[in-house]
Amino acid sequence: MSLFGNWFKKKKLEKPVDLSPLVTDMHSHLIPGIDDGAPDMHTVLTLLEQMAGLGFRKIITTPHIMADLYKNNEEIIRKGEAEVKKAIKEAGLNIAFEAVAEYLVDEGFAPMVKEKRLMTFGDNYVLIELPYYSPPQNLSELLFEMQVAGYKVILAHPERYVYWHGMFSKLEELKDREVFFQLNTISLSGYYSLPTKKISEKLIDAGMIDFLGSDMHSFQYFKLLEKALYEPALEKLLNSGKLKNSGL
Ligand SMILES: [Fe+2]
Repeated sequence: MSLFGNWFKKKKLEKPVDLSPLVTDMHSHLIPGIDDGAPDMHTVLTLLEQMAGLGFRKIITTPHIMADLYKNNEEIIRKGEAEVKKAIKEAGLNIAFEAVAEYLVDEGFAPMVKEKRLMTFGDNYVLIELPYYSPPQNLSELLFEMQVAGYKVILAHPERYVYWHGMFSKLEELKDREVFFQLNTISLSGYYSLPTKKISEKLIDAGMIDFLGSDMHSFQYFKLLEKALYEPALEKLLNSGKLKNSGL
């Protein structure tokens, strides 16, 4: 890299950020084989051990529920949760484990809201994600319905919705409607794209991030997470005092 390239490159931290004050990670795909996350129990246990090594004491895992691709439901997820808990015990790992879901706001989602059968964690939180090609038409009504029903809505990785990259005000509108924001830590590594990293930093600067999540799927994600620990923006976020992970 040229001298000027180095000059303009943002400085990395000399020491990795300590994630242990978070206590709890609240976004991951660690039930074997039911979505695009960890394929088997060995991978799950290894990743849990690695997360414990970063200082996490509790993992709330969030398998995808999608109408098309991953047709999971509470029964499937609870069964997987029990199997992982048993394996954790047998392996002698010292980490608490809980399973809920990451709900894609698709055609299958609205009926679940109406019937009030969403899986929640902490203080009645529900983790949702949006489609990646365009925002759902009925998002506004759904948010209203969810909030009236007493759910607290956490939007997974707001930095990843490319259709809002040029419309920061859309994200601000959601914050005004008391939607909580969860940043993917690895977004700061530049893994998804440079614009995603930039929006992540902007959200942090604006004090708009409430939760931090690993979105852990695989060993590759863990490597990216380790890389992100050297990002100055992550240090800023952890020092902001705004993150709610430890209360989960
Ligand atoms: Fe996810």
